[in-house]
Amino acid sequence: MHPFDQLVRAAMREVPPYVPGTPVEEVRRRFGLERVIKLASNENPLGTSPRALEALRSIERLNVYPDDVNLELRRRLGERCGVGPESIVLGHGSNELLRYLFTLIVEPGDDLICAKETFSLYRHDARMLGANAVEVPLRDGVHDLNAMLTALTPRTKIVILCDPNNPTGTRVSREAYRRFLNELPPEVLLVVDQAYVEFADEDAIDATLDLGVRPNMLVLRTLSKLYGLAAVRLGYAVGDPAICTWLTRAHVPFNVTLPSVRAALAALEDHEFMERTRANNERGKAYLYGQIERLGLWAYRSAANFICLHLPVAADRAYLDLVRRGVIVRAGTSFHLPQHIRVTVGTPEENELFVEALEQALESWTAASPA
Ligand SMILES: Cc1ncc(COP(=O)(O)O)c(C=O)c1O
Repeated sequence: MHPFDQLVRAAMREVPPYVPGTPVEEVRRRFGLERVIKLASNENPLGTSPRALEALRSIERLNVYPDDVNLELRRRLGERCGVGPESIVLGHGSNELLRYLFTLIVEPGDDLICAKETFSLYRHDARMLGANAVEVPLRDGVHDLNAMLTALTPRTKIVILCDPNNPTGTRVSREAYRRFLNELPPEVLLVVDQAYVEFADEDAIDATLDLGVRPNMLVLRTLSKLYGLAAVRLGYAVGDPAICTWLTRAHVPFNVTLPSVRAALAALEDHEFMERTRANNERGKAYLYGQIERLGLWAYRSAANFICLHLPVAADRAYLDLVRRGVIVRAGTSFHLPQHIRVTVGTPEENELFVEALEQALESWTAASPA
């Protein structure tokens, strides 16, 4: 045992070890493949906004801590959400802001309510602080808001909705969400993680619109997906200035870098890239849903840039059988979906490669267990 092990907090010992994603290069080497595609992290298959790349190339000085430039981006993001810069906090990805939020308010023994089949980070961060993640199963593939209300206890501090939900891509209906907002006690913080909202159609709820009626609420968004900036790490929280001030108390100094802010400012103006990304996503989803049906499979209806499909074999086996055919997807296991995989919508060519690999894998599963 390392002496450090004894220093680690008890709650932290309950947290499963970090498992890095499968690197493309490693798969290529291990399976002797020429071409490997990664459709596992819902990244933008068209790359990065060209305007953002241009902004990154034009940076000439990095010797000064970034400060003023953050205000410019907060203003710009605030305009889009109909709030002032005091209602925006920038993060090293939206994940970082969630961590700050938890460290501000979560204490051992607290309850956090989230869906069962959702982004595992909520559960992870709750556990890290010794809190209890109450996981409410989806109903017909969608957040069961009534059951989430029923799950409230005097120890509930946070309810998290992921909308569109990762990994199912499903959305909460406007009507159910309205009722939920009315019934959720004001002392409970509502967090709406909208990492994929830019892919959803106009019917999607825009949680930022409710900030005026529910002060105890925080909306999380990111530039990692639509804008193709996952590598620069830039997310933001939109919320009441009172909550934002607390968040800035918790964050490390200059948590957001000058290159990421410059890239974000440029990407937000790159409407051509955003439209191209959305169009590729819609075309890709239509193609993939057609193929999923042709193969006799079933998938959740996704409003995001990924599709979660049900398979006749265990998710971990499916994952491996696809990886050895050069396609990296996400197994549903960490989302409590042991017989599903989540695939990111790729370029037309990547989508075809995925379908080809899936079809071959399906044939091998059928051959292994004939009906
Ligand atoms: C639901 C959800 N929220 C947040 C994130 C992460 O966003 P960021 O890259 O801004 O940390 C992801 C990324 O996969 C996600 O799926």
